[in-house]
Amino acid sequence: MIQANSVLLTLREVEKELSSTARCKKLVRSFYGEEHIPLAFVHSFGCQQNVNDGEKILGMLTSFGYGVTFEMEKADVVIYNTCAIRENAEKKVYGLVGELSHLKKKNPSVLIGLCGCMVQQSHVAEKLKFSYPQVDFVFGTHALTSFPTLFSGVLESALSGKRKRMFEIFDSDGRIAEYAPVYRLDRAKANLPIMYGCNNFCTYCVVPLVRGRERSRRSEDVLTEAKTLAAQGYREITLLGQNVNAYGKDLKDDLSFPELLLALNEIEGDFRIRFMTSHPRDCTKELIDAIAKCDKVCNHIHLPVQSGNDRILKEMNRHYDRKTYLSLIRYAKERIKNVTFTSDIIVGFPGETEEEFLDTLSLIEEVRYLALFTFIFSPREGTKAALMDDPVSYEEKNRRFQQLLSVQKKIEEQLHREMVGKTVRVLVDGFNRDHTRLYGHSEENLTVDFPGDEKQIGNFVSVRIDSMENRALLGHIID
Ligand code: 5AD
Ligand code: SF4
Repeated sequence: MIQANSVLLTLREVEKELSSTARCKKLVRSFYGEEHIPLAFVHSFGCQQNVNDGEKILGMLTSFGYGVTFEMEKADVVIYNTCAIRENAEKKVYGLVGELSHLKKKNPSVLIGLCGCMVQQSHVAEKLKFSYPQVDFVFGTHALTSFPTLFSGVLESALSGKRKRMFEIFDSDGRIAEYAPVYRLDRAKANLPIMYGCNNFCTYCVVPLVRGRERSRRSEDVLTEAKTLAAQGYREITLLGQNVNAYGKDLKDDLSFPELLLALNEIEGDFRIRFMTSHPRDCTKELIDAIAKCDKVCNHIHLPVQSGNDRILKEMNRHYDRKTYLSLIRYAKERIKNVTFTSDIIVGFPGETEEEFLDTLSLIEEVRYLALFTFIFSPREGTKAALMDDPVSYEEKNRRFQQLLSVQKKIEEQLHREMVGKTVRVLVDGFNRDHTRLYGHSEENLTVDFPGDEKQIGNFVSVRIDSMENRALLGHIID
């Protein structure tokens, strides 16, 4: 569906990609033969948004005639969908790509591609070009919607026997394509991206540099996709966006994020709605009221605070202070029954003093988060914070990090203990590691283990929580 919105692909651009898709189908048959169904392996690192991009790539590859494999050694095309958020994420990818040279030697016809946030950075693309010859094609986040055209070029060069490596890293922001097929990796939970990019420019964060400015999908398209997912029997829909609660700010005459939640809540079906990641700056009382009103929207909010200290928050360019953040939390606790919170915290931001760190500890004790995603500051090329003086040693940062973990562990244990004896509605995810019990997530985002059988996977069950063992909640299904 086409609208007068430069963010959407035009009809002509969609037609081009559809005709490239048809071309890829023919090329796949010529390259692999009619008898052989080639297999694609796509592995995504990083956030849910990236996982969803990976699902789109798999969707496109299956429309070209590939099957899907989760075993890299069996694949005819291998794609790593990379993340740039911290240095560790990048190091891991360089290591894995290095190992791919063995795969290429063993099977020279395997096609190796890299995409995602890490390769959107020009210094990374250059390094891959010169130091990793095993890589056949590279495309950045903004080139995802023209993947069929890029891939038809990759197949043509492979067929011709004259290997031509392809690099497509666009500077302009990626466009929104409503035509792209999605291969969903989970049969009960679906990701639904509602906006892309970020306008916040937190000083530590590479996301605005690799994902571009905020672009929202039209509510009409979001609602249509959500209705299809509900009709297909998905039990959980997670609305995605790097800054999800800024949804709609760039749209004219369309819904705001709270209005979108209210509209989604009206869709028929037994499913629940989550969303991530929210920025406290765009978290309004109106949004909290909407969450409280919508029975399908889970009573769990992931609201990254990053730090509990006002000077650090300012240096991070977060646009809120401790007091405002805590007043939002208080309001949500008053309005939303049994609400839980999770958060992201960065320890060791450049120049963070011991006292400033202690402010973060006192904040987490006040909020009582169900879980925290904790990170030691990692300087990212092109960000402001990477240029700031950073006198605190890594050892000291690590000490603070460990202290944070141990404070959080106690909070989690207390919160879990308070849940014993209560009954929660759980969406069953699967079997636990030793395959002895099922596990799933409650609306509050608690993980619970309980006995049960395979038939229950992908369905809702009521679970009474009986005990807590090694931080895990154990329970049993009740009618
Ligand atoms: N260093 C450490 N952590 C970071 N994050 C983002 N950028 C950095 C960085 N440079 C963390 C933030 C963010 C989460 C996705 O990753 O906490 O919310
Ligand atoms: Fe990583 Fe951020 Fe890209 Fe997600 S958007 S993959 S967290 S860099």
